[in-house]
Amino acid sequence: MARIATIIGTRPEIIKMAPVVKAIDRLDHKHILVHSGQHYDLMMDGIFFKELGLRDPDYKFEIKDLPPHRQVASTIERVGEIVRDVDLVIVQGDTNTTLAGAILANKLGKPVGHVEAGIRSYDKTMPEEVNRILTDQMSTMLFSPTATAKRNLQRENINKGVHVVGNSVVDALIQNIKTAEERTSPLKRFGADSRSYFLVTLHRAENADNPEKLRSVLLSLSKIAQQHGKTVLFPIHPRTRKRVEEFGLQHILDAKGLEVVNPVGYFDMLILEKNAALILTDSGGLQEEGCILHVPCVTLRENTERPETLSIGCNVLAGTDAKRIEVAARRQLKISTKWRNPYGNGTTGEKIATLVSRFLARRGSA
Ligand code: UD1
Ligand code: UDP
Repeated sequence: MARIATIIGTRPEIIKMAPVVKAIDRLDHKHILVHSGQHYDLMMDGIFFKELGLRDPDYKFEIKDLPPHRQVASTIERVGEIVRDVDLVIVQGDTNTTLAGAILANKLGKPVGHVEAGIRSYDKTMPEEVNRILTDQMSTMLFSPTATAKRNLQRENINKGVHVVGNSVVDALIQNIKTAEERTSPLKRFGADSRSYFLVTLHRAENADNPEKLRSVLLSLSKIAQQHGKTVLFPIHPRTRKRVEEFGLQHILDAKGLEVVNPVGYFDMLILEKNAALILTDSGGLQEEGCILHVPCVTLRENTERPETLSIGCNVLAGTDAKRIEVAARRQLKISTKWRNPYGNGTTGEKIATLVSRFLARRGSA
């Protein structure tokens, strides 16, 4: 029996890794689940374990509100003892938790499995892009969502251990949407009708931490709400909430047509996405989920590591300029939504578990 450690820490890691963790749990190996504590509020963390039926972590730490370098350092230090005798460390995505897990495993001479390997925005000013590149360079098993991601890795001379397996965002969505529909009615709660609102999320450091960009996006939201006679429903990330207060932008959020609410659970989010007229976001996960649910998206960034969504037309880049956002919203409201989801059929978790099992058997750890 081999020992596997999976390290997670933020909202998207919990959601996308739930199907993967469950599939690896079904293998005949010891599987240790570690939570770095990077996200810690109930609505950024606990609710997702509950809704997605994910077991409690075997180890959970607190790195509340530490600056990024200390999030990484503290995770490496605290998780070190736990992974000292494992045969494989698995991480997902591009967060500080991801990077910490990969560095730790690498320094201990352990193989790293990276879920969602090879996606690239080609913008190294984003902390996530640097985290992804470094993690991929340290990984032995690279689970890429698409052929594009695999090609990105080849460009960086990573040719071994790459497997195109789809994205487990599809698994999570398929496994949960029916239950979400049975258990929650966010439209009723927010007094909205299907397609009567634009769904917005915004939290990327380059947007939330920049007062001019944040101001510009928030102003454009109230403008497009008025132009289209829709409500803007905006579950606000704690980072953005803090910056709005710090930069004195609350009055913009108080404008007519803007409904700013606390972050919502995954079940609510799936229903809100499915019924939105349009999604406007800088989230990676929402770009993918909009695409899977056949709801058009406007990405509030200058680039994306999800270029597949641009090619099929379900998503456009609008940056943070108010005029560009208005034009993009108008365009996306008119498109046909009959594209093909490029992220797989919801079997990513199973595929990863099978590959992990084979890898461990080949190394003689199983
Ligand atoms: C992190 C990831 C980002 C991911 C996002 C998912 C990095 C570099 N960034 O960004 O890739 O898209 O998570 O949401 O790892 N906060 C709370 N409560 C929480 C969590 C955060 O109040 O439960 C506040 C804190 O003030 C914290 C700030 O948000 O300092 C930023 O959190 P952090 O985890 O550092 O970065 P995110 O912006 O969430
Ligand atoms: N999400 C959620 N509630 C929210 C906002 C997002 O459940 O209020 C989910 C969303 O459905 C997706 C994931 O969180 O699965 C995306 O996380 P986030 O936008 O924080 O990170 P990113 O994907 O940008 O890394």
